[in-house]
Amino acid sequence: EKGGYKHFMLKEINEQPRAIADTISGNLQWFESGKVEGIEPEEVERITVVACGTSYHAGLIGKFLFENLAKIPTEVDYASEFRYRDPIVKNRDLVISITQSGETADTLAAMRLAKERGAKVLTICNVIGSTATREADTVIYTYAGPEISVASTKAFTTQLTVLLLLALCFGRRRGKLGQREFDSLFKELMSIPSKAEAFLNREKEEERVKEIALKLYRAKNALYLGRHVNYPIALEGALKLKEISYIHAEGYPAGEMKHGPIALIDETVPAVFLATKSPVYEKVLSNIEEVKARKGRVVAVVNPGDSAVSKLADFKIEVPETHPLLSPVLNVIPLQLLAYYIADFLGYDVDQPRNLAKSVTVE
Ligand code: F6R
Repeated sequence: EKGGYKHFMLKEINEQPRAIADTISGNLQWFESGKVEGIEPEEVERITVVACGTSYHAGLIGKFLFENLAKIPTEVDYASEFRYRDPIVKNRDLVISITQSGETADTLAAMRLAKERGAKVLTICNVIGSTATREADTVIYTYAGPEISVASTKAFTTQLTVLLLLALCFGRRRGKLGQREFDSLFKELMSIPSKAEAFLNREKEEERVKEIALKLYRAKNALYLGRHVNYPIALEGALKLKEISYIHAEGYPAGEMKHGPIALIDETVPAVFLATKSPVYEKVLSNIEEVKARKGRVVAVVNPGDSAVSKLADFKIEVPETHPLLSPVLNVIPLQLLAYYIADFLGYDVDQPRNLAKSVTVE
């Protein structure tokens, strides 16, 4: 059942190339026709994403995608907060709920409120026939397959895949995305499964992550830092570590560091940076310099051929290069593995972390 892997989490991390490919092909029909059932992208004035946990992090990345590619103002809310703040929802709003299980109580309640207030509700969901899929006006499935490990991995990268497809589709329909940019982004998305596969099949890189885990597993605190579209990946990396290794970790946008969290840095607090090629690369580089100046230990996720960050970092992990807007899908994989190996070294029950349930069906 675990396909030769020690834990479901490791199996599911390794299933990601297949899961992403299936999610693209499973959604090709509507994507190629340029029509999402029940939605007129030209008429959408605003998108609000509601979700919890890892799915919420996917939503934060969705904001960049919808705003960048389709020019639709997008808000992202914790589903558990949405309904208690008397949200402004109008009938030209599209509310997108993201939920692996389709049974998260807070997310369902947020969907119901949005519907009551006249919005269209689209759900991005992994479980066929779940409550979210029965209640939403429109359903788009991720094809991750059953996710057994409590810590979500392949559900997340397939949610990002759907968000990319949606943002591309909306961008083209609204005339905000030229044919060339559309084609080149879609082509790049199609190459993500093989790039993820290349990373996961490189034993050297996995050994690297294990080595880093061995150096870090005694830490009591860790910081995860990224910018722009990789800031939510910093949040997700920190969440993975917290959940399964019980090490306190915080994710931050790297530029916010000097407004507080930099006070935490010393030689005992590792900082994990997302530093792949992007328009904010130089900015991330100077944030790394700030950490090194305070004797922090730096782990950097970089692209092959990187030199500036690699010179400063204590440890580096190389992931294949892609378009910056797609980079979260690849960059999260080493962070999933890092959390996994740290928890495994600590001897914890990776698939069943304490205090957590796979789907949170109570408020
Ligand atoms: C994190 C994790 C949780 C879920 C959250 C939402 O690894 O598994 O944070 O992401 O409980 O669950 P769904 O997506 O099923 O609504």
